[in-house]
Amino acid sequence: MISGAPASGKGTQCEMLVEKYGLVHISTGDLLRAEVSSGTEIGIKVKEFMENGILVPDEIVTDIVKSRILKPDVKERGWLLDGYPRTAAQAQSLERLGIRPDICVVLDVPDQILVDRCVGRRLDPVTRKIYHVEYDPPESEEVNARLIIRNDDTVEKVTARLETYKQNAEVIFSAYMDVFNKIDGNQPKEMVFGEIDSLLQQVQLVAKQRQKLI
Ligand code: AP5
Repeated sequence: MISGAPASGKGTQCEMLVEKYGLVHISTGDLLRAEVSSGTEIGIKVKEFMENGILVPDEIVTDIVKSRILKPDVKERGWLLDGYPRTAAQAQSLERLGIRPDICVVLDVPDQILVDRCVGRRLDPVTRKIYHVEYDPPESEEVNARLIIRNDDTVEKVTARLETYKQNAEVIFSAYMDVFNKIDGNQPKEMVFGEIDSLLQQVQLVAKQRQKLI
Protein backbone atom coordinates (compact mmCIF):
# COMPACT_ATOMS: atom_id res chain seq x y z
CA MET A 1 0.00 0.00 0.00
CA ILE A 2 1.44 3.36 -0.97
CA SER A 3 0.35 6.61 0.54
CA GLY A 4 1.51 10.22 0.63
CA ALA A 5 0.53 13.75 -0.25
CA PRO A 6 -0.40 14.80 -3.79
CA ALA A 7 2.68 14.52 -6.04
CA SER A 8 4.75 12.76 -3.40
CA GLY A 9 5.66 10.24 -6.12
CA LYS A 10 3.16 7.41 -5.54
CA GLY A 11 2.39 6.86 -9.23
CA THR A 12 6.07 7.11 -10.19
CA GLN A 13 7.08 4.46 -7.64
CA CYS A 14 4.14 2.23 -8.61
CA GLU A 15 5.32 2.19 -12.25
CA MET A 16 8.71 0.90 -11.07
CA LEU A 17 7.21 -1.59 -8.60
CA VAL A 18 4.88 -3.05 -11.21
CA GLU A 19 7.80 -3.47 -13.59
CA LYS A 20 9.84 -5.40 -11.01
CA TYR A 21 7.16 -7.31 -9.09
CA GLY A 22 4.31 -7.65 -11.60
CA LEU A 23 1.77 -6.55 -8.99
CA VAL A 24 -1.66 -5.31 -10.03
CA HIS A 25 -1.53 -1.51 -9.60
CA ILE A 26 -4.84 -0.23 -8.24
CA SER A 27 -4.73 3.56 -8.33
CA THR A 28 -8.03 5.14 -7.34
CA GLY A 29 -7.00 8.40 -9.05
CA ASP A 30 -6.34 6.54 -12.35
CA LEU A 31 -9.52 4.45 -12.07
CA LEU A 32 -11.63 7.55 -11.40
CA ARG A 33 -9.96 9.53 -14.22
CA ALA A 34 -10.72 6.61 -16.59
CA GLU A 35 -14.40 6.79 -15.57
CA VAL A 36 -14.43 10.54 -16.23
CA SER A 37 -12.77 10.28 -19.62
CA SER A 38 -15.13 7.46 -20.71
CA GLY A 39 -18.11 9.57 -19.61
CA THR A 40 -19.65 6.76 -17.54
CA GLU A 41 -22.40 7.36 -14.96
CA ILE A 42 -19.75 7.23 -12.23
CA GLY A 43 -17.49 9.53 -14.25
CA ILE A 44 -20.24 12.15 -14.51
CA LYS A 45 -20.81 11.95 -10.73
CA VAL A 46 -17.14 12.31 -9.77
CA LYS A 47 -15.89 14.82 -12.36
CA GLU A 48 -16.61 17.93 -10.34
CA PHE A 49 -15.07 16.56 -7.14
CA MET A 50 -11.88 15.64 -8.94
CA GLU A 51 -11.54 18.84 -10.90
CA ASN A 52 -11.74 20.78 -7.66
CA GLY A 53 -9.34 18.55 -5.76
CA ILE A 54 -12.08 17.34 -3.38
CA LEU A 55 -12.30 13.72 -2.21
CA VAL A 56 -14.89 11.65 -4.06
CA PRO A 57 -17.59 10.18 -1.75
CA ASP A 58 -16.38 7.05 0.07
CA GLU A 59 -19.11 4.70 -1.29
CA ILE A 60 -18.18 5.43 -4.92
CA VAL A 61 -14.43 4.90 -4.46
CA THR A 62 -14.90 1.87 -2.25
CA ASP A 63 -17.17 0.14 -4.80
CA ILE A 64 -14.57 0.73 -7.52
CA VAL A 65 -11.73 -0.64 -5.38
CA LYS A 66 -13.76 -3.65 -4.22
CA SER A 67 -14.68 -4.70 -7.72
CA ARG A 68 -11.04 -4.42 -8.85
CA ILE A 69 -9.29 -6.00 -5.86
CA LEU A 70 -11.53 -9.08 -5.86
CA LYS A 71 -10.65 -10.00 -9.49
CA PRO A 72 -8.70 -13.24 -10.08
CA ASP A 73 -5.55 -11.57 -11.48
CA VAL A 74 -5.10 -9.77 -8.15
CA LYS A 75 -5.20 -13.08 -6.30
CA GLU A 76 -2.52 -14.45 -8.62
CA ARG A 77 -0.18 -11.45 -8.84
CA GLY A 78 -0.83 -9.52 -5.61
CA TRP A 79 -1.99 -5.92 -5.28
CA LEU A 80 -0.46 -2.49 -4.97
CA LEU A 81 -2.99 0.02 -3.66
CA ASP A 82 -2.19 3.64 -4.55
CA GLY A 83 -4.24 6.47 -3.06
CA TYR A 84 -6.64 4.23 -1.12
CA PRO A 85 -7.68 4.27 1.69
CA ARG A 86 -7.79 8.03 2.25
CA THR A 87 -10.40 8.21 5.00
CA ALA A 88 -11.24 6.23 8.11
CA ALA A 89 -14.37 4.88 6.39
CA GLN A 90 -12.29 3.60 3.46
CA ALA A 91 -9.82 1.90 5.82
CA GLN A 92 -12.74 0.25 7.64
CA SER A 93 -14.15 -1.01 4.31
CA LEU A 94 -10.86 -2.78 3.62
CA GLU A 95 -10.86 -4.27 7.12
CA ARG A 96 -14.35 -5.64 6.53
CA LEU A 97 -13.06 -7.41 3.41
CA GLY A 98 -10.20 -8.83 5.50
CA ILE A 99 -7.67 -6.98 3.36
CA ARG A 100 -4.49 -5.71 5.01
CA PRO A 101 -1.19 -4.71 3.42
CA ASP A 102 2.14 -6.44 4.05
CA ILE A 103 3.68 -2.98 3.98
CA CYS A 104 2.26 0.52 4.09
CA VAL A 105 4.73 3.00 2.60
CA VAL A 106 4.23 6.72 3.14
CA LEU A 107 6.27 9.05 0.94
CA ASP A 108 7.33 12.13 2.86
CA VAL A 109 8.02 15.29 0.80
CA PRO A 110 8.10 18.97 1.89
CA ASP A 111 5.04 21.02 0.87
CA GLN A 112 6.81 23.48 -1.46
CA ILE A 113 8.38 20.64 -3.44
CA LEU A 114 4.97 19.00 -3.79
CA VAL A 115 3.57 22.15 -5.38
CA ASP A 116 6.51 22.39 -7.84
CA ARG A 117 6.07 18.73 -8.76
CA CYS A 118 2.35 19.14 -9.43
CA VAL A 119 2.71 22.25 -11.50
CA GLY A 120 5.44 20.65 -13.66
CA ARG A 121 3.82 17.22 -13.97
CA ARG A 122 2.94 15.97 -17.46
CA LEU A 123 1.22 12.72 -18.44
CA ASP A 124 1.59 10.64 -21.56
CA PRO A 125 -1.97 9.70 -22.57
CA VAL A 126 -0.66 6.81 -24.69
CA THR A 127 1.62 4.97 -22.21
CA ARG A 128 0.16 6.58 -19.01
CA LYS A 129 3.77 7.34 -18.00
CA ILE A 130 4.33 10.26 -15.61
CA TYR A 131 6.89 12.97 -16.43
CA HIS A 132 8.04 16.28 -15.01
CA VAL A 133 9.17 19.17 -17.21
CA GLU A 134 12.29 19.65 -15.11
CA TYR A 135 12.92 16.58 -12.93
CA ASP A 136 11.92 13.86 -15.37
CA PRO A 137 11.50 15.17 -18.92
CA PRO A 138 10.29 12.90 -21.76
CA GLU A 139 12.85 10.98 -23.77
CA SER A 140 11.79 12.23 -27.22
CA GLU A 141 10.18 15.19 -28.98
CA GLU A 142 7.41 12.86 -30.18
CA VAL A 143 6.40 12.01 -26.59
CA ASN A 144 6.84 15.64 -25.52
CA ALA A 145 4.36 16.81 -28.17
CA ARG A 146 1.54 14.61 -26.87
CA LEU A 147 1.94 15.22 -23.11
CA ILE A 148 -1.09 16.50 -21.19
CA ILE A 149 -1.55 18.44 -17.94
CA ARG A 150 -4.00 17.22 -15.29
CA ASN A 151 -6.68 19.81 -14.65
CA ASP A 152 -6.27 19.48 -10.85
CA ASP A 153 -2.57 20.41 -11.08
CA THR A 154 -2.89 24.14 -10.43
CA VAL A 155 -1.33 25.78 -7.34
CA GLU A 156 -4.78 26.46 -5.79
CA LYS A 157 -6.08 22.92 -6.30
CA VAL A 158 -2.85 21.30 -5.12
CA THR A 159 -3.00 23.42 -1.97
CA ALA A 160 -6.57 22.26 -1.33
CA ARG A 161 -5.65 18.60 -1.99
CA LEU A 162 -2.68 18.89 0.37
CA GLU A 163 -4.89 20.30 3.11
CA THR A 164 -7.35 17.40 2.72
CA TYR A 165 -4.47 14.94 2.81
CA LYS A 166 -3.14 16.43 6.05
CA GLN A 167 -6.57 16.23 7.69
CA ASN A 168 -6.85 12.50 6.96
CA ALA A 169 -3.26 11.30 7.15
CA GLU A 170 -3.11 10.45 10.85
CA VAL A 171 -6.21 8.24 10.73
CA ILE A 172 -4.71 6.20 7.90
CA PHE A 173 -1.29 5.91 9.52
CA SER A 174 -2.77 4.68 12.77
CA ALA A 175 -4.81 2.01 10.96
CA TYR A 176 -1.58 0.49 9.61
CA MET A 177 0.82 1.28 12.44
CA ASP A 178 2.18 -2.29 12.54
CA VAL A 179 3.32 -2.20 8.88
CA PHE A 180 3.91 1.54 8.53
CA ASN A 181 7.14 2.80 6.88
CA LYS A 182 7.81 6.47 6.27
CA ILE A 183 10.27 7.02 3.40
CA ASP A 184 11.98 10.24 2.36
CA GLY A 185 10.33 10.94 -1.00
CA ASN A 186 12.51 13.98 -1.58
CA GLN A 187 15.41 12.10 -3.15
CA PRO A 188 15.95 10.78 -6.68
CA LYS A 189 13.21 8.34 -7.67
CA GLU A 190 15.71 5.47 -8.00
CA MET A 191 16.77 5.96 -4.37
CA VAL A 192 13.17 6.05 -3.16
CA PHE A 193 12.56 2.87 -5.13
CA GLY A 194 15.63 1.22 -3.58
CA GLU A 195 14.21 1.75 -0.09
CA ILE A 196 10.76 0.40 -0.99
CA ASP A 197 12.34 -2.48 -2.84
CA SER A 198 14.39 -3.56 0.16
CA LEU A 199 11.25 -3.54 2.34
CA LEU A 200 9.49 -5.77 -0.18
CA GLN A 201 12.45 -8.12 -0.34
CA GLN A 202 12.31 -8.52 3.45
CA VAL A 203 8.60 -9.36 3.23
CA GLN A 204 9.27 -11.94 0.52
CA LEU A 205 12.02 -13.48 2.63
CA VAL A 206 9.79 -13.79 5.68
CA ALA A 207 7.00 -15.30 3.52
CA LYS A 208 9.43 -17.89 2.11
CA GLN A 209 10.67 -18.80 5.57
CA ARG A 210 7.08 -19.24 6.76
CA GLN A 211 6.29 -21.51 3.79
CA LYS A 212 9.29 -23.70 4.65
CA LEU A 213 7.98 -24.12 8.19
CA ILE A 214 4.52 -25.25 7.00
P1 AP5 B 1 -4.76 10.94 -7.26
O1 AP5 B 1 -4.57 10.75 -8.70
O2 AP5 B 1 -4.55 9.77 -6.37
O3 AP5 B 1 -3.88 12.18 -6.81
P2 AP5 B 1 -2.93 12.45 -5.57
O4 AP5 B 1 -3.01 11.58 -4.39
O5 AP5 B 1 -3.12 13.88 -5.34
O6 AP5 B 1 -1.55 12.01 -6.10
P3 AP5 B 1 -0.95 12.41 -7.44
O7 AP5 B 1 -1.43 11.49 -8.53
O8 AP5 B 1 -1.18 13.87 -7.65
O9 AP5 B 1 0.61 12.27 -7.19
P4 AP5 B 1 1.56 11.04 -6.99
O10 AP5 B 1 1.90 10.90 -5.55
O11 AP5 B 1 1.09 9.81 -7.72
O12 AP5 B 1 2.88 11.63 -7.72
P5 AP5 B 1 3.49 11.32 -9.16
O13 AP5 B 1 4.21 10.01 -9.15
O14 AP5 B 1 2.49 11.57 -10.24
O15 AP5 B 1 -6.23 11.49 -6.94
C1 AP5 B 1 -6.79 12.51 -7.72
C2 AP5 B 1 -8.20 12.83 -7.23
O16 AP5 B 1 -9.01 11.64 -7.32
C3 AP5 B 1 -8.31 13.26 -5.74
O17 AP5 B 1 -8.06 14.63 -5.57
C4 AP5 B 1 -9.77 12.87 -5.45
O18 AP5 B 1 -10.66 13.81 -6.01
C5 AP5 B 1 -9.92 11.55 -6.20
N1 AP5 B 1 -9.55 10.38 -5.39
C6 AP5 B 1 -8.50 9.52 -5.61
N2 AP5 B 1 -8.47 8.57 -4.66
C7 AP5 B 1 -9.49 8.83 -3.81
C8 AP5 B 1 -9.96 8.21 -2.61
N3 AP5 B 1 -9.36 7.12 -2.11
N4 AP5 B 1 -11.04 8.75 -2.01
C9 AP5 B 1 -11.67 9.83 -2.49
N5 AP5 B 1 -11.27 10.49 -3.62
C10 AP5 B 1 -10.20 9.99 -4.27
O19 AP5 B 1 4.64 12.45 -9.20
C11 AP5 B 1 4.30 13.82 -9.26
C12 AP5 B 1 5.36 14.59 -10.08
O20 AP5 B 1 6.60 14.54 -9.38
C13 AP5 B 1 5.62 13.98 -11.46
O21 AP5 B 1 5.84 15.02 -12.37
C14 AP5 B 1 6.89 13.14 -11.27
O22 AP5 B 1 7.66 13.06 -12.46
C15 AP5 B 1 7.62 13.92 -10.17
N6 AP5 B 1 8.38 13.05 -9.28
C16 AP5 B 1 7.98 11.87 -8.74
N7 AP5 B 1 8.94 11.37 -7.94
C17 AP5 B 1 9.96 12.26 -7.97
C18 AP5 B 1 11.24 12.32 -7.32
N8 AP5 B 1 11.66 11.36 -6.50
N9 AP5 B 1 12.02 13.41 -7.56
C19 AP5 B 1 11.61 14.42 -8.39
N10 AP5 B 1 10.41 14.41 -9.03
C20 AP5 B 1 9.60 13.35 -8.81
